[in-house]
Amino acid sequence: MRPTLRAAALAATALLALTACSSSGDDAAADAAGELTLVNPGTLTVCTNPPFEPFEFEDENGEIVGLDIDITREVADDLGVDLEVVVTPFDTLESGASLTTDACDILASGLTITDERAEKFDFSEPYFDADQGLLVAEGSGIDDVESLAGKKIAVQMATTGETWVEDEGLTPVQYEDLGLQINALRTGQVDAVVNDIAVLGPFITEGLEVAATFPTGEQYGLGVKKGNTALLEAVDATLDRIREDGTYDAIYTERIGTAPTAD
Ligand code: ARG
Repeated sequence: MRPTLRAAALAATALLALTACSSSGDDAAADAAGELTLVNPGTLTVCTNPPFEPFEFEDENGEIVGLDIDITREVADDLGVDLEVVVTPFDTLESGASLTTDACDILASGLTITDERAEKFDFSEPYFDADQGLLVAEGSGIDDVESLAGKKIAVQMATTGETWVEDEGLTPVQYEDLGLQINALRTGQVDAVVNDIAVLGPFITEGLEVAATFPTGEQYGLGVKKGNTALLEAVDATLDRIREDGTYDAIYTERIGTAPTAD
């Protein structure tokens, strides 16, 4: 029994040595890619929660597109892998659950960087500045914190908008996504919608108005599982590259409709 065990141990050592050997080879790029673990090898799988135009929304072909998807596709391209989009409830994404259950490799969902979330998964460098906004029926007279008192305010579950409403001592009514929030406002179930200002624009054509911006100074980041350092580094490297080579500006201009203002 002993010799067998020893043989097994030796074989294991040999294997380790082999692995060590191959990872100290010359091809640094291949090594970096080799360290990267993806839930579905050959594919970067991204979790996102549409509708959240212009960051993630369904186009006329039923495909999920938007600024978050464009940026994540740049990461996939740099890694030389495909991109697959997985639609996920925002709360499971925000809690880090979709990363720990290996539903995806990366979160790209207009996700604000917060200390609480950063305990559960790692954030990339920030890629977009955000504030909260208020959407109401045109002429409602609701346009600040004071006039929101006692009103029913639709929030998206587990978002920073929900936290903002609670912190102001106001009354949030929870909805699973932005689409359901907007429907509640259209049908008069609520008096107002609070969510990120950048996603409220598409609705002002239908008798609704953006009545206020609440400056919260948020920043969006992409999320990866804690410990997946190789992926996090790759994501940040892509963000640096697209900032430098003009790709980020092009994506921003296409999706947001204006050129980004200088930092
Ligand atoms: N920025 C806000 C947050 O992180 C809202 C994000 C909602 N994103 C989405 N795709 N529905 O809480």
